[in-house]
Amino acid sequence: MKPNKVLYLAVTCSAIILVLNLSASGQAKVTKENFGKTSEGQNVDIYTLTNRRGAEVKITNYGGIITSLKVPDRKGKRDDIVLGFDNLDAYLKGSPYFGAIIGRYANRIAKGRFTLNGHQYTLAVNNGENHLHGGIKGFDKVVWTARPLKVPNGAALRLTYLSKDAEEGYPGNLSVRVIYTLTNANELKIEYWATTDKDTVINLTSHSYFNLAGQGIGDILNHQLLINARRFTATDAGSIPTGELKSVKGTPFDFTSAFRIGERINDDDQQLKFAKGYDHNFVLNGRMGTLRQAAVVYEPTSGRSMEIWTTEPGIQFYTGNFLDGTLTGKDGKVYQQRYGFCLETQHFPDSPNHPSFPTAVLRRGQQYHTITIHRFKTSSR
Ligand code: GLA
Repeated sequence: MKPNKVLYLAVTCSAIILVLNLSASGQAKVTKENFGKTSEGQNVDIYTLTNRRGAEVKITNYGGIITSLKVPDRKGKRDDIVLGFDNLDAYLKGSPYFGAIIGRYANRIAKGRFTLNGHQYTLAVNNGENHLHGGIKGFDKVVWTARPLKVPNGAALRLTYLSKDAEEGYPGNLSVRVIYTLTNANELKIEYWATTDKDTVINLTSHSYFNLAGQGIGDILNHQLLINARRFTATDAGSIPTGELKSVKGTPFDFTSAFRIGERINDDDQQLKFAKGYDHNFVLNGRMGTLRQAAVVYEPTSGRSMEIWTTEPGIQFYTGNFLDGTLTGKDGKVYQQRYGFCLETQHFPDSPNHPSFPTAVLRRGQQYHTITIHRFKTSSR
């Protein structure tokens, strides 16, 4: 071929590719709308982050809640894959932490008590005799300050909150920052930072209930799950860790290769009986602090998969055991038991009372920083 023909072909091809790229995309952007007022009259907004491929996440600054998340299935159809409500009032009335940022301490602290630097702290008790998810008014129920950020690889929203000394019983003024980024590679990245003016404990997570087939249309028992964990924290009947890091081998907790979530959920296993299904913290393989793959979930009818990568030492796998059909969510969908699953990256539950667990103490002058990434893909399998 003559050189000018090669050039012509190359120019035409790149023009076609450019047009394809532009038509498949758009610019990543963040838009803002009013979402109502809290009972104390605070204004609440809702932000829509859209990436260049048209994936979309909605986040309100009430509780930092992810209210909807739309990603493509294998045919390119975008569905909302998280449980939640259509309006702020429903969240205010009571939500089982749908999509929220959880803090100061995600998961349970036994009897709401812990000792730090020789001082015993007493926290709000809101789960039987225990403290759960930050207490009566945790980070899921406060209004955060929100600001869209310009980032090169997608759309991002920064949320900040100052948790005052003694809030829900915790020591120290804790200054928290969370950045959500919906990248152009269809990843939802959640990054958390915090500093304190007094030694304290901290464990932040995000509490989305996923159904990769689409929210509200059925249970999640056919999803296939892999968790990169050889051990989990065995619990007592109140879901408080006994301290034992139990091997998953030969138990329904072995997700080291992919299993249907429903395959062993009703097995005659004491740990499953205690929690009415899975509601356990898995001890992730690899070194905490390094970003590594924690879990992979695949849903066969839609072809959607979600990988979770994290710097955290653990992940709570919860199968919506306490959903019971009494909540009506988005689009009038009624949420029955096991209609969603959670994979909450975190420090181990009740770490402040288990010196053998990775420490959840944040010292004055130190910076807390963790990263979790949800990576969405599709497969024709
Ligand atoms: C967490 C807990 C569960 C339950 C849910 C919210 O995942 O581990 O026991 O409290 O939150 O209902």
